[in-house]
Amino acid sequence: MTNWFLRMPKKISTQPISESPFTDIANVGKSIHPLWDIPVYHGELWPAKQRRGHSLHQISYRACFKPALVKFFLERFSQPGDVIYDPFMGRGTTPLEAALNDRIPWGSDLNPLASHLVTPRLSPPRLEAISVRLKEIDLEGETPLQEDLLTFYHPDTLREISNLRSYLLAKERDHQLDTIDQWIRMVALNRLTGHSPGFFSVYTMPPNQAVSIKSQQKINDRRQQTPPYRNVSVLILKKSRQLLKDCNLEGDTKLNQAATQANFAIADATELSNFPNNSVNLVITSPPFLNIVDYATDNWLRCWFCDLDAHKLNVTTPAKLSNWEDFLSNVLAQLQRILKPGGRIAIEIGEVRKGTLKLEETVAPLGAPNGLRLEAIYINDQIFTKTAHCWGVANQKGGTNTNRIVIFQKEE
Ligand SMILES: C[S@@+](CC[C@H](N)C(=O)[O-])C[C@H]1O[C@@H](n2cnc3c(N)ncnc32)[C@H](O)[C@@H]1O
Repeated sequence: MTNWFLRMPKKISTQPISESPFTDIANVGKSIHPLWDIPVYHGELWPAKQRRGHSLHQISYRACFKPALVKFFLERFSQPGDVIYDPFMGRGTTPLEAALNDRIPWGSDLNPLASHLVTPRLSPPRLEAISVRLKEIDLEGETPLQEDLLTFYHPDTLREISNLRSYLLAKERDHQLDTIDQWIRMVALNRLTGHSPGFFSVYTMPPNQAVSIKSQQKINDRRQQTPPYRNVSVLILKKSRQLLKDCNLEGDTKLNQAATQANFAIADATELSNFPNNSVNLVITSPPFLNIVDYATDNWLRCWFCDLDAHKLNVTTPAKLSNWEDFLSNVLAQLQRILKPGGRIAIEIGEVRKGTLKLEETVAPLGAPNGLRLEAIYINDQIFTKTAHCWGVANQKGGTNTNRIVIFQKEE
């Protein structure tokens, strides 16, 4: 496959936009791509105050994108009632934002934790119901502790976590997990490890991507720390209160309605046989970027909590650009089949290798051989805020500094 980016001018010049599709956003530049004769829009497409989105989004997941990105493309390329799909849904930013905007949420991911994270947020329970349920679960009973986990947890905290885990696994085995249990599991998964007293663990970094026991021991030695007691119920309730802050009757009704039409699966994005032909209006997605993130290793503790084998997560993180191109091409072929005629794909890829490799230049030529018309490229310049650091992406150093989105359309 040709590496088009090698033939690109180093910088795409931007001029003030004339016929603007951005009546709501100031200072967006537009240029015409020198190779593909398509518009390239460039600017701060979703300003800082829009980025946070609805409180239900506020769980962390490695390399998740902002709800504002999803909303930007939902508003431009879909209508209420449309089916919106993400084959790499992660924490479920796309399906949740779709549901909050009267669209039908579909999603899949190879990581089985993804649906544990998104499904309960489409049916948010009342805070009182969560509190009552937590009181009903015996978190303090004697139970065998997995000793190595004491590197992260105070013995009493580990006892509470282990009892909660056993309760949830038993209910799951008996097909008795209800929406409140699923909510508690989702919040617990997000409190397992982190850097503040809001998490169950002693200080660790970054949040929600547990380091190995050995690395945590090193962190403990360096910081001369031993895990302090953290009350599991109190922290689950505290995080639930935060997540439910923007919920109200009208919004919950909308979400419940969307939940009845939701379609979530554990699936490899190159084999989406459980999603029918010509069924999706819009895909908004962000694939794994080369070998930046090792999802299987990052998720080992979350997998332990849900009794999943992290090593069985055959999550694709191709290290070589040519392998990544082949992978993306196979994904686009699947998406073309699933899209309705005229439907679109907004595919977000970041800057990798310190900005020297612009993956949109690799992705753009992959559309045509897969029956997709290349329509536009959007480049969002992101001014990092404190929360953007939570995944170890240091401001302007390494990692992803801009969002780069390629738009394809399936021919009518
Ligand atoms: C960049 S993250 C997407 C994050 C998501 N946009 C969000 O907001 O949470 C990429 C996701 O792709 C998943 N993944 C990696 N390889 C996959 C594959 N072959 N098929 C499906 N999902 C895969 C990972 O588990 C991860 O959740």
